[in-house]
Amino acid sequence: MKLTAKALLATMLLTPTVISAATPATTLILHPEQATDTISRMIYGQFAEHLGGCVYGGIWVGEDSPIPNTRGYRNDAIKAMKDLGVPVLRWPGGCFADDYHWRDGIGPRNKRPTLINNNWGGTKEDNSFGTHEFLDFCELVGTEPYVSGNMGSGTVGEMAQWVEYMTAPAGPMADERAANGRLEPWRVKYFGIGNESWGCGGNMRPEYYSDNYRRYSTYLRNQPGNTLYRIASGASDYDYNWTEVLMDRIGAGRMDGLSLHYYTVTGWSGPKGSATDFDSDVYYRTIGKAVEIDTVICKHIAIMDRFDPKKKAGLLVDEWGTWFDEEPGTIPGHLFQQNTMRDAIVAAITLDIFHTHADRIRMANIAQLANVLQAMWLTEGDKLILTPTYHVFKMYAPHKDALHIPISYNAEILTDSNGRPYPTLSATASKAKDGSVSISLTNTLLDKAQEIEIPLAGLPSHIRQADILTAADIKAHNTFENPTAVTTADFKGAKTAGGKLKVSLPAMSVVTITLD
Ligand code: AHR
Repeated sequence: MKLTAKALLATMLLTPTVISAATPATTLILHPEQATDTISRMIYGQFAEHLGGCVYGGIWVGEDSPIPNTRGYRNDAIKAMKDLGVPVLRWPGGCFADDYHWRDGIGPRNKRPTLINNNWGGTKEDNSFGTHEFLDFCELVGTEPYVSGNMGSGTVGEMAQWVEYMTAPAGPMADERAANGRLEPWRVKYFGIGNESWGCGGNMRPEYYSDNYRRYSTYLRNQPGNTLYRIASGASDYDYNWTEVLMDRIGAGRMDGLSLHYYTVTGWSGPKGSATDFDSDVYYRTIGKAVEIDTVICKHIAIMDRFDPKKKAGLLVDEWGTWFDEEPGTIPGHLFQQNTMRDAIVAAITLDIFHTHADRIRMANIAQLANVLQAMWLTEGDKLILTPTYHVFKMYAPHKDALHIPISYNAEILTDSNGRPYPTLSATASKAKDGSVSISLTNTLLDKAQEIEIPLAGLPSHIRQADILTAADIKAHNTFENPTAVTTADFKGAKTAGGKLKVSLPAMSVVTITLD
C-alpha cells in the first residue's frame, strides 16, 4: 500500500509513472536491501466478545450439546482456529469487558449467575464461558490470550485479583484457582486496562483515564514466569487528542501498548448499508474508507513518535474491520453480518497497510472471530462456514513473522464519491526465515484485470505456491447451502520470464505468490 506521504514520495522517486494505454503493465519493485522490520504475527490476531453468537454458538456450545465438541468447544471451531494459526485472541470485550466481573464466570457452571448483557441486545449471559473456559480454549488451539480488564465498572482490587488468579503460582488466588480445577498458573501476557474508556468503557476524558490507568496498572503485578504487557485503552479513529494526552500523561514507560479502534463504517448513527446488497459506488466508498486507516495510523504514530522516538510502546489496532447493517431477521444488537468478496478486499488492503507500519504496529485484532461483524466464520446450529475474510488471513500466513520488504510501484490512485483516495492495486511483500519471498497483490477494480511485472533481480525466481481468492461478483459470499462459493484456488496467472515475475491479476482478486 503506497498511500502514506513518505511512501508516495518514495514511489515517485523510485519509479516513473507509467500508467497509460501504451504501457499497460504496472511495474512493482521490491527493495529487499531496505528491509528492516519484521511483521509481527500478532497483527493476525482475533477478537471474541460476549456479543451475539461470537462466544456462545461460535466457539462454545457446552459439553452437553449435540453439536460435536471437545469439552464444550465446537470441534469445527477448534479446527478453524488451528488451520488459521490464530496468534492471539482478545476477550471478553469490547464494551462487554467494562461490564464484566470475572468472579461471575468461575466455579461450578451451574452456580454461576445469569445476568443480562446490557451492551448487546439484552441477551441472557449465563457465564458458562468464563476465565477457565477462555484460557483453556487458548491452550487447546495454541493461541496467546489477550484479556481486557474492567476499569469502567470494576475496582482496582478486582482487576488486580483477576491477574493474580490467572497467573500467580502460589497464594490465596492460586489456591482458589486450584480449587476450581487449575493448579498451574496460565501465562497471560497481554492485558488491556479498560476498553473504549472514552465511550462505553466509562465516558472518561483522556486526562481522567490517564490518571486511572496509572492507578490501576500499579496493582497489576508481574508474577514469577509471567510478565504483563500492559495495554492502554486508545483512541477511536480520528481522536488524536486522546493519543496526545495518554502519551503525555501515561508515557511509554508505563504502557507497553496503546490501542486504536478503526472500523470501516459509514457512520455511527443510521443505516450502515447492507453487507451483501450494494452497488459499485458503495463498494468504492467502502474501499476508500478502509484505506483511510493508513492516514489515521500515520497521524497517531506521529504523535507517539514525538513522545516515544525509540518506539518502546506498540500501537495495537485491537478492533478493526467492516461494520454493516445486521442481516435481516437476525437478533437486533447481535451484529451478525455476512461477508463478501468486498470484505476480503478490505481485509487484504488493511493487512498491507499494517505491514508498512511493522516498526510500530505490534498487534491487531479483527472484529470479530465468529458471527459478529467481519467474522472468520459463521455458524448455524451444527454448520460452520468459512468467510472470504478467513481465506485472506489464511493466504497471508507466509507474511507472519517475516521481514517486510518495502515496495515501490505506480498504481493509479482513484477517488471515491466521498472524495477519499483509493489505490487500484494494493501490494505487500516479505521474506521468510527460509529465504522464500511472498508477494500479495490485490486488484481493487471491479471491472478491469491488471498486468503486473516484478523484476526478480536479487529475488528467488521459482514459484513455490500461488493462490487466488476471487469471484464473478463482488457481492459473492458463502452460505450454509453453498459454503464454498468464495474460496481459494490455485492461481495460474503468474509466470517467470525474462528475469521478471509476470502476473495477470483478475478484477476484484487477492493473490499470494511465494517464490523460492
Ligand atoms: O466490536 C463491537 C464493539 O465495537 C466493541 O464492543 C466496542 O469496543 C466497539 O465499539
